[in-house]
Amino acid sequence: MTDTSSVLITGASSGIGATYAERFARRGHDLVLVARDKARLNALSARLRDETGVAVEIVVADLTDPDDLGLVAKRVSDDRKIGVLVNNAGAGLAGAFERQAIADVERLVSLNTTALLRLSHAAAGNFVAAGQGTIVNISSVVGLVPEFGQSVYGATKAFVLYLSQGLALELGPKGVYVQAVLPAATRTEIWERSGADPEKVPPLMDVGELVDAALVGFDRREPITIPALHEGAHWDAYQAARLVMIQGFGQTQPAERYRIAG
Ligand SMILES: NC(=O)c1ccc[n+]([C@@H]2O[C@H](COP(=O)([O-])OP(=O)(O)OC[C@H]3O[C@@H](n4cnc5c(N)ncnc54)[C@H](OP(=O)(O)O)[C@@H]3O)[C@@H](O)[C@H]2O)c1
Repeated sequence: MTDTSSVLITGASSGIGATYAERFARRGHDLVLVARDKARLNALSARLRDETGVAVEIVVADLTDPDDLGLVAKRVSDDRKIGVLVNNAGAGLAGAFERQAIADVERLVSLNTTALLRLSHAAAGNFVAAGQGTIVNISSVVGLVPEFGQSVYGATKAFVLYLSQGLALELGPKGVYVQAVLPAATRTEIWERSGADPEKVPPLMDVGELVDAALVGFDRREPITIPALHEGAHWDAYQAARLVMIQGFGQTQPAERYRIAG
């Protein structure tokens, strides 16, 4: 990232996205803030302009709307000043899978995966051509834990993690840094918005501490940042186990345990 690059943040009207906006503004970056709530974006942009002197533009868009998403993607690909894309907009969905309305499920998948994919693709073209640029994708530890019982939300976050890992390998050698951030439970509006039972909300990390930790990983150019994971060696062991397994995928014969006796 050059010092003059601007940062486009989706879901910047509250929570993690608004906190990223503040932190990048304090680092001196101009901002493009995307979300649906115009009044909140206006209030945040006015405050950040006053407090930091950076230029802040807002783009009011519903990223589940194909036309709005197309306009934001066009903005990402047309604006060569954007050097950092933070794909943060996302939502959760409470309730048992069979009782979730399919329209809500599809909207969640569209926001958490399709929008992020489309904007990453729009940014990648410019970033590869420039030989630099950064994509930050907000995943979740839920993407690693089907046991949490949030199957659709977790699946979208597993998609984000996988895509980020793949893009880090593909785009890294072309000068593009891709970071997946996996927050654990963090104090934002997402719990209320997703219809979570207040009695079942776990202990929450402060959103400022979460984003500051994610930015430590960003400054170190970490591909995966999991602020709540105190034992970093556990992630390394998980990765090592996966890499060992890869060697077994090149077999042309089924494993012994799947052979029919006889
Ligand atoms: N908080 C946690 O515990 C936690 C843990 C792991 C991962 N995460 C992830 O962190 C990210 C940010 O969530 P948060 O916790 O900061 O929640 P949040 O405060 O509810 O923020 C969500 C942001 O996304 C925007 N958004 C929602 N639907 C949108 C749409 N259709 N189009 C455009 N923007 C939309 C919201 O703005 P508008 O309503 O103005 O559109 C808001 O700015 C999400 O991807 C979430 O999955 C959160």
